[in-house]
Amino acid sequence: MSTKESGSRPPLRVAVIGSGKGSNCQSIIDAIDAGKLNAKIVCVISDVENAFILERARKHGIPAQFISAAPFKTKLDGEAEQNYIAFLKNHGAEVIVLAGFMRIVKKGLLAAFPDRILNIHPALLPAFPGMESWKQALDYGAKVAGCTVHLVDAGTDTGPVIVQRAVPILEDDTPETLHARIQVEEHQAYPEALRLIAAGKIRVEGRRVRIAP
Ligand code: GRF
Repeated sequence: MSTKESGSRPPLRVAVIGSGKGSNCQSIIDAIDAGKLNAKIVCVISDVENAFILERARKHGIPAQFISAAPFKTKLDGEAEQNYIAFLKNHGAEVIVLAGFMRIVKKGLLAAFPDRILNIHPALLPAFPGMESWKQALDYGAKVAGCTVHLVDAGTDTGPVIVQRAVPILEDDTPETLHARIQVEEHQAYPEALRLIAAGKIRVEGRRVRIAP
């Protein structure tokens, strides 16, 4: 950790929750390892038992746990939600990073970590919320796409925006090439948002996230 990045603050204690391949989780691990982010990933949770995100975490010696979210299919609620909260609290998580978590989080988790849950969405919100937003952007005929890191609130992809990064949509783009180009930016955006939080630079004012210089 470089002195410049770490300052005198203790590392931000981050927990990552994801359902899939975990490339965003990897970008955060890499930023920490490179001394570019004053944080520690205290645990990784997945609702998918064989998700690659868990393997990535274990490779880096990070506690990684499958926690079932059954019986629900699209949300984290009820007893499962309580299990997630208990695991996160036991690991001393300060900030929760949703990285490809394919469920809607409900009020129990939101109340346990107020203004402390982040999500990354592969579009420039408020355009194209919901699923496969890179495909939505392409089908719409938009000329610019991108990604958004935002705080999670009770809506879907509606919370205050922390960081956005844009990419052009090219003439010969397919959903796959566009998504890949967006993901390159995601891997910059998530560490950047966490850097701001770790440095104590963000303040939420209604819908606006104020960023100190
Ligand atoms: C990303 O495109 C993210 O924007 C969306 O889900 C995908 C997760 O990718 N929410 P990964 O698992 O981090 O590789």
